[in-house]
Amino acid sequence: HSALPEDLHLRPLAQDDYSRGHLDVLRVLTSAPDVGSSAWSERFDLMASHPDHYYPIVIVSKSTDRVVALGTLFVEFKFLRGNAKAGHIEDIAVSKEAQGKGLGKRVIEALTGVSEGLGCYKTFLDCSEENKGFYERCGYEFKGVQMSKYA
Ligand code: ACO
Repeated sequence: HSALPEDLHLRPLAQDDYSRGHLDVLRVLTSAPDVGSSAWSERFDLMASHPDHYYPIVIVSKSTDRVVALGTLFVEFKFLRGNAKAGHIEDIAVSKEAQGKGLGKRVIEALTGVSEGLGCYKTFLDCSEENKGFYERCGYEFKGVQMSKYA
């Protein structure tokens, strides 16, 4: 795939991305109330203390110094398939203004690349019916039914 536009930088989530509007982008996906920078940092530190499991990434605009897209790979350790690993793609969002420019696809490609590089035997995700086409464009295929029970 082609290089990202010069203004954009894809990198791991950083300690100070709270101030770059990380939660504002997440809010495009679902409820993400402002927990404040110290609670945000606590959660960041918790994830950073499990570096084998959490791979949060962002795309940042250099000119505005704002997060424009984000996503996370969560790596699950298993007993099956000979102590295999599975990669879960979670919490994908692109800011409203930046949608439709290929950034979501870049996030999925990057996270899938990390998952495969780590040797995960599969990479998978849950999505709504309306996003099915997006993930198909990213090379994913429909597989089964998701069940949830919200607390
Ligand atoms: N249905 C069908 N095709 C789509 C859709 C869609 N809803 N959205 C994008 N596409 C296509 C594009 O046309 C493009 O096709 P191309 O390769 O032929 O050019 C390709 O998919 C890639 O599109 P992008 O421009 O990379 O998509 P974008 O950057 O807008 O990101 C996303 C898509 C993440 C769904 C974004 O619109 C968004 O943030 N939506 C709101 C939050 C959300 O629903 N997130 C996903 C939740 S699921 C999860 O987190 C595991």
